[in-house]
Amino acid sequence: MAEKLVLAYSGGLDTSVAIRWIKEKYGYDVVTLTADVGQGRDYEAIREKALRVGAIKAVVVDARELFVKYFIFPALQANALYEEQYPLATALSRPLIVKLMVDLAQEEGAVAVAHGSTGKGNDQVRFDVGVMTLAPQLKIVAPAREWGMTREQTIAYAQEHDIPIPVTVSSPYSIDECLWGRSIECGVLEDPWAEPPEEVFTWTRPAYDAPDEPVYVEIGFERGIPVSLDGEELDGVTLIQRLNTLAGEHGVGRIDHIEDRLVGIKSREVYEAPAAVVLLEAHKQLEGMTLSKSQLRFKERVAQEYADLIYNGLWYSALHQDLAAYVHSSQRHVTGTIRVKLFKGKCAVVGRKAPKSLYSFSLATYDKGDVFDQSASPGFIHIWGLPVKVQAQAQLLTQPEGPLGITGPREEETKT
Ligand code: ARG
Repeated sequence: MAEKLVLAYSGGLDTSVAIRWIKEKYGYDVVTLTADVGQGRDYEAIREKALRVGAIKAVVVDARELFVKYFIFPALQANALYEEQYPLATALSRPLIVKLMVDLAQEEGAVAVAHGSTGKGNDQVRFDVGVMTLAPQLKIVAPAREWGMTREQTIAYAQEHDIPIPVTVSSPYSIDECLWGRSIECGVLEDPWAEPPEEVFTWTRPAYDAPDEPVYVEIGFERGIPVSLDGEELDGVTLIQRLNTLAGEHGVGRIDHIEDRLVGIKSREVYEAPAAVVLLEAHKQLEGMTLSKSQLRFKERVAQEYADLIYNGLWYSALHQDLAAYVHSSQRHVTGTIRVKLFKGKCAVVGRKAPKSLYSFSLATYDKGDVFDQSASPGFIHIWGLPVKVQAQAQLLTQPEGPLGITGPREEETKT
């Protein structure tokens, strides 16, 4: 009996060809694993296709709850956004798929795993590093990185081997979808000057075509996790799906990003992530009410590190455990409700309330009820400004150009 390999199988052209190619080249019996992370596909059809193409067993796992609970929501609590733009949908799904693959490999007694990533992207890194960390004994096969076939040759291989070619093959775009967002690459998008054509978007309407009336949503959070919409308690999967639909209707969630891949390439990535965009904004605003200024500042740095490590395939790392512990701790009072207005491509937070809010009306108000002691301000300012005053007298005021020399125009520069 041949040794077994577990292949992460999407049902697309590359991973379908991979089933046959792995058998021919390496002799492994291929078991496929398809993870439902919210792509909204016909998973039974994918399973049948895997078997038809030559897999000895085809497994489909509904991983949506795991995805939301252990990957999406912790990333939301961290405000993880790569290069301030990308909510990390694909990047978050990869470590989950790795975990499922590795578990299945163990169950099946497989000696190897495989994935359909090419040698140019981030996904290969996320898969390989994940496997290296969780199950270093497993061999890793990456057919699309090894076979050196062009798109045409892959299609020809499929035809020769009687592998059904999906209709999506005629599309010039490379697409990846999960609950947290949809990415679109290739085709005309490779020209960074070209505006993304309307056809690349399927989750969001163009702003000009969005409803003429705004919609308001109240998002309830508990410890940084969204738990309700307009007062209705929802499980995470349903909540994200509803927000994807609603915000997408109103044209919210389009992202056009020149992104820095880990392998050193700049690439033009277009995303649709309506729920992610809304939830990240709402969550940040709730933190604005419930975290101190210094917590917010420190957390912003953590968010950047957190986003980078997710993007760079280091989910299963000690640094991640450390940062996650901090993020978890930071969320203990991030409970409350955020009111969001969705209108013509924009998501605006228009209201916020929180039981442990740090916003004090009586301190902030200029009307009656003001309790702020203005007579304490001069003393505060005296000490706050003291070091600046001392330094200015000792060093700045003695310079020929005077104190304006710090920021003001110099004479040579103003002369024409
Ligand atoms: N650039 C994004 C990332 O690295 C999206 C990758 C999409 N992956 C794909 N196989 N189409 O996370």
